[in-house]
Amino acid sequence: MELKYLPQAWKRGTDFLGTRYAILCGAMTWVSESGLVSAISNEGGFGVLAGGNMPPALLAKEIEATRRKTSFPFGVNLITVAPGFRDQIEVVVREKAPFIFFAGSIPSGKDIEHAKSGGAKVICFAPVLSLAKRLIKQGVDALVIEGNEAGGHIGPVATSVLAQEFLLGGSEVPIFVAGGIGTGEMIAQYLNLGAAGAQLGTRFVVAEECVAHPRFKEAFIRANARDAMPTTQFDPMLPTIPVRAIVNEGTRDFNRLQLELLNRVKSGELPREEGQVKLEEFWIGALRRAVVEGDVERGSLMAGQSVAFVRKIQPVREILDELVTAAERKLGDMAKICPQAVAG
Ligand SMILES: Cc1cc2nc3c(=O)[nH]c(=O)nc-3n(C[C@H](O)[C@H](O)[C@H](O)COP(=O)(O)O)c2cc1C
Repeated sequence: MELKYLPQAWKRGTDFLGTRYAILCGAMTWVSESGLVSAISNEGGFGVLAGGNMPPALLAKEIEATRRKTSFPFGVNLITVAPGFRDQIEVVVREKAPFIFFAGSIPSGKDIEHAKSGGAKVICFAPVLSLAKRLIKQGVDALVIEGNEAGGHIGPVATSVLAQEFLLGGSEVPIFVAGGIGTGEMIAQYLNLGAAGAQLGTRFVVAEECVAHPRFKEAFIRANARDAMPTTQFDPMLPTIPVRAIVNEGTRDFNRLQLELLNRVKSGELPREEGQVKLEEFWIGALRRAVVEGDVERGSLMAGQSVAFVRKIQPVREILDELVTAAERKLGDMAKICPQAVAG
C-alpha cells in the first residue's frame, strides 16, 4: 500500500529512530532477544533488546548478535533497579549501543550523561509531567508514556489520560505512546494527538520470530482483554509495583507469597526491603518459567489488555503490515471527515 498520510504524521518518530515506521516493539524480558529484535528492525519497525535480566557478558553478546542480524537501528532496555545495572550500563556504553532505554525507575542525571557519552540517544519512561520536564533538562532525547493497560510492570494511569496530559501541549522531545495499543487505527489516533509513534509489546509475543514457548503464545491467542489483570498490593507496609498478566495459578502463587512475606515483615522476622526484593524476584523467575519452559499454569503470563487483538501466530512482517495499513486507512478516513484535523 502506498503511504500518503503516515510518512508525514509520524515523521518526528521515524526521523528520531531512523526507521521506516515509528512502531517500536518494547523490550520484553526473556522475549526480546536478538532474533525478535532484528526481525522487527529488518521489517521497518524498531526492536528493543531486553537487557535488564542479562548478565553483562550475555548482554554484550546479544548486542553483537543483533548487529550481525540487522543493519537497521535498534535499542537496548536496562532496568535501573536490576542488581546488574551498573555493569550493564558499562557494557552498553562500551558497545556503543545507539539507543538506550531506561526502565524501572527514573535514572540519575549522571547515568543519563554516562549513557550519552557513548553516543547513544537516551529514552526514558515518564510517569508524570513534572518528571518529564526534569528528564528533558537532564538531556533525555525522547520519552515513552506507558498506560496501565500495558503488559508487565505498570503505573496507575490509563494510556488515554497520559496521552492527553503529555501530548496536547506539544513537547520538546518526541513522545512515543505505549499500553493497550493493538490496532493501526489506535496508532493513528495517538499520532493525531501529537505522538511521534507507538510502542507495542503484547501483539509481538505471537510473532513467528519470537522465541517464546508455543504454550505461552497459545495462552495469548486464547485470552480476552479481561483475562489480563493487574496484581493487587495487600498492604502498603510491603509495597509492590502492579504487574498485568493473564490470571492463572501463578497469580495466586504471587498472592500467597505476598501474604507470607507480609506476615514475616510485620512480625519483624524479615526486613521490609528484603521482602520487596523477594517479591520482585518472583516475577523474573515466574516469567522465565512461562516464556522459556512453557509452564503456563504457574509461570507468569505477563500480557497487556491488547491481548484482545492477538488472534494467531504471524510473521513480524504481517503484523507490521496490518498495523501500518490500518493506521494509514484511518488517517485517510479522518482526512475525509475533517481535512485540517489530520496530523501532517
Ligand atoms: C511479557 C512482557 C514482558 C515485558 N518486559 C518488559 C521489560 O523487561 N522492560 C520494559 O521496559 N517493559 C517490559 N514490558 C512492557 C513492553 O515493553 C511494552 O511497553 C508493553 O508491552 C506495551 O503495552 P502492550 O502490552 O499493551 O502492547 C513487558 C511486556 C510484556 C508483555
